[in-house]
Amino acid sequence: MELLEEQRETWGSRGGFVLAAVGSAVGLGNLWGFPYKLYDNGGAAFLIPYIIAMFLVGIPVLILEFSMGHLSQRAAPDAFAATGKRLEFVGWWGIIMGFIIITFYPVILAYCFNFLGHSIQGIFNGGQLPWAGEGIEGVEKAKDFFYKEYLGHTEGPGLGEIRLNIVLTLFIAWLVMYFCIFRGVKLVSKIVWLTVPLPWLMLLVLTINGLMLPGSMKGLAYYLNPDWSELAKPTTWQFAFGQAFFSLSLAFGVMLTYASFLHRKSDINNNATVIGLADFATSFIAGLAIFATLGGMAFVTAEAGNPVAVEDVVAGGPGLAFVAFPYALAQLPGSAWWSFVFFFTLVTLGIDSAFSITESVLAAIVDKTAWRRSIVLPVMSLVGLGFGLVFTTQGGLNWLGTVADAIYGTWGIGLVGLAECILLGWLWRVDHLRRHANERSDWQLGRWWTYAIRIFIPIILGTIFIWSLVNDLTTPHGFLKGPDGQWDLFGFLKGPDGQWELFKCVGLAVVISAPIIAVLMSMIKSPRNSGGGVPQHPAARAGWVSGRVPGTIALLLSIASAAVLIPSLAGLTIAGSIGTYLKIESIVMAIGAVAVSSYVLDKADDNGRRPSSLAQWAGIISTMDISAFFALCLIGMTSEAVDAARPVSAAENLSETSYAILAVVLLLIIGGLSWCFYRALTAAGRDAPPQSADGIIM
Ligand code: PFF
Repeated sequence: MELLEEQRETWGSRGGFVLAAVGSAVGLGNLWGFPYKLYDNGGAAFLIPYIIAMFLVGIPVLILEFSMGHLSQRAAPDAFAATGKRLEFVGWWGIIMGFIIITFYPVILAYCFNFLGHSIQGIFNGGQLPWAGEGIEGVEKAKDFFYKEYLGHTEGPGLGEIRLNIVLTLFIAWLVMYFCIFRGVKLVSKIVWLTVPLPWLMLLVLTINGLMLPGSMKGLAYYLNPDWSELAKPTTWQFAFGQAFFSLSLAFGVMLTYASFLHRKSDINNNATVIGLADFATSFIAGLAIFATLGGMAFVTAEAGNPVAVEDVVAGGPGLAFVAFPYALAQLPGSAWWSFVFFFTLVTLGIDSAFSITESVLAAIVDKTAWRRSIVLPVMSLVGLGFGLVFTTQGGLNWLGTVADAIYGTWGIGLVGLAECILLGWLWRVDHLRRHANERSDWQLGRWWTYAIRIFIPIILGTIFIWSLVNDLTTPHGFLKGPDGQWDLFGFLKGPDGQWELFKCVGLAVVISAPIIAVLMSMIKSPRNSGGGVPQHPAARAGWVSGRVPGTIALLLSIASAAVLIPSLAGLTIAGSIGTYLKIESIVMAIGAVAVSSYVLDKADDNGRRPSSLAQWAGIISTMDISAFFALCLIGMTSEAVDAARPVSAAENLSETSYAILAVVLLLIIGGLSWCFYRALTAAGRDAPPQSADGIIM
């Protein structure tokens, strides 16, 4: 069923859409974010939560966003409003998170432009690069160049002066983004034929070059040797899921908006899987390129008698792309060319991700207000640029890190994803979306997908949220376990000396204000909504309500379960076997409540009735109960885990486990992509009209 009759602009071809979505997903997050997050969070062990996040959560949610965008033909807020006005805020929440990203993401692009400029100069002046140096002193030189000379970096919360060199390239970045999208998605679908394959090609060249360097295997050991103990920390899981959502551009409304421009007959399920696999493959290969090259650098410097080990240069955050890697490339013959290739790759990777966010914010505003795109885009670009100026100051990098970490953190994008799945899953008929996607896809989703969105994904995301939240609150200065035994409600926002920490406060304020602003935005009357532009789903209008009695029972069970679990999370448990019995009782009640409410929803759906809202809320509460139970188990199991340093063995050669991990990951990527292409080809063969082989793809 199509919700809207009006004609909306569409992508020219299936390739144009897939490339645009891949262009959004594959960005700085893959080449710069993923490798250092993996390195910081357990090496190859990080791949476990990351693969779960990508494949068990990411791709099903991508299908959810694609089918919602495709069905509603609207940007995120209106698409959510189409499922019921009270859910519109979820769409705005993602859009606001996207807007936060659009203030700092182009600043990193601006750095790339500057470094690209230096590399081009290097090509013309005989290979001299301003950050190049030898040995361990050379590393200092590379650090000095980035932090002191280029950023004029100062520590602490003070902003200092605006750096004009960064402002200039930030302006260029915004200008390029503006010209890419000002003509609409038709032009975007052409631009991405350049901005997606080109960086892939260059990444391949960097990877092959890296792997051919002597010493590369030692570098890979840093990447692929697992440190399993990191899995006991909630932050590892938080970062893996945050990174997966960020990398797939998920829950920011971007994929939903892109799918709203998709042709009515286009495939959804297979496209989403290809996009997820392509994004995962790019991150993984980027890691190979980075660490193999760093291994080569370690070898070259050791040969020259001035050894620099990989851990001497690898630093978290921007240090990897703007200090370690440029330094490593400067050790190779033809260094200026290699730097050019690297920064050009970053620019082309980042630009289509950056404009995809702009497009989704733009489409959200235009769809809500019916204002002209040609006016909203320049105003929005100026506002984005204006906020971005904060990050071009001497203290800008500190603030950039604060805001970026907040997006990945407890209150960040994973929580938006949780809200998206649990609210749609229980308050709306997501099975309807499954049918919508199946009607036009190369292969069919089973009912498991509906349960994944309604129950399993919320449980996974909910567990991580609750685990992280309790962890935040019980850090040495959290309110539950103050160092001196005193309760301090805001302890987790303070430093070791009991002083308020501005970075923590602002980071939290930014992400907490997002849902509040989102609710306010959803309350603004829109000419389109009020005119009945976005019709409600028929289930919302159906008169018959079914499942009141079982709904009431499920609600009581879910509340009883919460009454045991919430105090337990706060550390208030009854000791001994009674306490254990109560917890087991509570999880049994929660599972029972989920089963009953889900049955009520399915039955109502099958009979074209409206499920009792008691069952809907029982479902939401009991799903969260189950998450709370898992979080409680994890807290109990991991409370002893210590923050161990990375094992020394990381510096040695690849272990057998690492080879096994490498083989499994490559199999996943190659096998997965081959399967998707096979399904696309067989589906195309099935659907093709016998007389013509043309134009069958859409
Ligand atoms: N997915 C992009 C990356 O990995 O760099 C970044 C991004 C794009 C995040 C679009 C969010 C978004 F809405």
